Amino acid sequence: MDMAGDTQLLIKKQTNGLEKDMLLSYKLLCEKHSLDDRTSVYDTNNKVSHLMAERMKQICSNTSINNCAYKLETYDKPTYMHSVRVAVLCMIIGKLMNFDKNNIIELGIAGLLHDIGKLLIPINIITKPGKLDEIEKILINSHSASSAYYLRENYTSISKNVIVGVVEHHERLDGTGYPRHLKGNEISLIGRIIAVADIFEAYSSNRSYHKARTITETIEFMQKLNGLDQRILNLFICHIDKNNNVIALY
Ligand SMILES: [Fe+2]
Repeated sequence: MDMAGDTQLLIKKQTNGLEKDMLLSYKLLCEKHSLDDRTSVYDTNNKVSHLMAERMKQICSNTSINNCAYKLETYDKPTYMHSVRVAVLCMIIGKLMNFDKNNIIELGIAGLLHDIGKLLIPINIITKPGKLDEIEKILINSHSASSAYYLRENYTSISKNVIVGVVEHHERLDGTGYPRHLKGNEISLIGRIIAVADIFEAYSSNRSYHKARTITETIEFMQKLNGLDQRILNLFICHIDKNNNVIALY
């Protein structure tokens, strides 16, 4: 059973809010990182490409997804904004990997809901600026499993692919991730894509515990991470302009 139950008006309002946030994040990400316009993110009039906007609209018109996003937004706005940007980055990567429409939509949903389990963690731990103690670390590291649990229990319309991506977004190719310490191909493609988008976003944005790194610092840091799928990272960074020069390889 889905947890939809709010009034149509609220749903409509939130639908528009989430969609607006996704479109704006899309625009800002592309401008900030000068994503190559051959990704068709923008047309020549600087408008978000019709197709990508259409896919975002589809995601945002789903009542369950909207409810989830709204709960996250009201619980912890920075995590919500992080999730919106991760969703957008996942969709861009999906497009670069020539995923079909449905898979790009699933990537967007998984990116948007990958941290939903943080709803189950006390807010003072999520927003703690200093070092976490051992118990707090365990709680924080439980969030990918609890995100999947939360979605499975409350939102049965969410696809299995999305759930798999959500639970595996902190798994690492070298087995150092969590919750199941999966290795290499044991980790789903969707989980590996969210991992790249998640780290890219987290590292290059201001967080309660660190300042935003530059795009060059972010890429250099990510290239040293053995646990990330470097093929996905390379494909993505080929479309990023570090010095106002497009570095597209095709
Ligand atoms: Fe996470």
